[in-house]
Amino acid sequence: MKGLVLSGGKGSRLRPLTYTRAKQLVPVANKPVLFYGIEALAAADVRDIGIVVGDTHEEIRAAVGDGSRWNVTVTYIEQDAPRGLAHAVLISESFIGDEPFVMYLGDNLLNKGITPFVEEFVRTRPAAQILLTRVPDPQMFGVAELADGSVIRLVEKPKEPKSDLALVGVYMFGPEIFESARAIQPSGRNELEITDAIQNLIDRGCVVRPHLVEGWWKDTGKLDDMLEANRLILDTLDRRVDGSVDADSRVEGKVVIETGAEIIDSVVRGPVIIGANARIERAYVGPFTSIMNNVVVRASEIEHSIVLEDSVLSDLSNRVIDSLIGRNVRIMREPVKPSAYRFMLGDNSEVGIRW
Ligand code: TTP
Repeated sequence: MKGLVLSGGKGSRLRPLTYTRAKQLVPVANKPVLFYGIEALAAADVRDIGIVVGDTHEEIRAAVGDGSRWNVTVTYIEQDAPRGLAHAVLISESFIGDEPFVMYLGDNLLNKGITPFVEEFVRTRPAAQILLTRVPDPQMFGVAELADGSVIRLVEKPKEPKSDLALVGVYMFGPEIFESARAIQPSGRNELEITDAIQNLIDRGCVVRPHLVEGWWKDTGKLDDMLEANRLILDTLDRRVDGSVDADSRVEGKVVIETGAEIIDSVVRGPVIIGANARIERAYVGPFTSIMNNVVVRASEIEHSIVLEDSVLSDLSNRVIDSLIGRNVRIMREPVKPSAYRFMLGDNSEVGIRW
């Protein structure tokens, strides 16, 4: 059994962060999303893993390395452009050979892992097995129609969904998928769609089995989903305080404070994670916030947000909420006249201001 993790793509829905960073490396509870996927594969004893990479390949290689940290072997597979999930399968054929494999989208998170999913595939050995979850808005997803315990049709974003079972970003395939991926044509958005390849398997009479997700699943491709994933993961942390907390501070609930972080005259109310060497001074850090290494929060309040490395929030008069703040960002009040906003924002930035 091999693993294939998809870590190319454009990440356009997470701009401007993805102009300078692979979306699979944006951290959830201070750990890159991609690492949760690799850990899920390793936990299911899938140890020979191919990672499909695109423009951001150098950064992904630098972060993941050879996989020895998870006791897995990683092979990098370069995709020249994001030509679709089925294209990523096709270019991985020589790595996969004729073994069955798990395909895992590198920006997806599953809290219960994939072990029962993999075990069921090994036991029943269909041509493909897809992971499904019930959603309130199936019009937004790829949706599966089932009959007699098999998948009979897949429809991408149906106007009138026949079920509320949406496809989750984890799939299992036998080598039959390569013939199907070769047989399909690019879609309207000019990608080789994995749903079309799986539909082709069904049309050829191959068995495609459904498997319902246990626990929650999140695709972290956009801001709201990222914040929700952060919320869900932070809630599972155990309290650990390795940094320093002075006598004037209060640290309440599930809070992780990494080594070298300093909490000075502040209130930190969990679930919260504060990275190494961060400095929280005369500040409030509220529930569901992830603060990465070397961040400074001074005389400011923040909650339900993610702040990446080396950023500074200083002397802000309103609380920062629901925000994803990139690396080395500075948000500060300045004592200069005229009293006004001064911005230097990258393309596609978003700023919400109270009026
Ligand atoms: P998507 O989120 O569907 O696509 P995207 O990364 O291009 O994002 P956006 O829609 O915001 O522009 O991709 C799911 C995962 O698969 C993600 O980790 C990127 C990866 N991927 C590839 O590796 N190759 C591809 O050709 C595509 C389309 C996606």
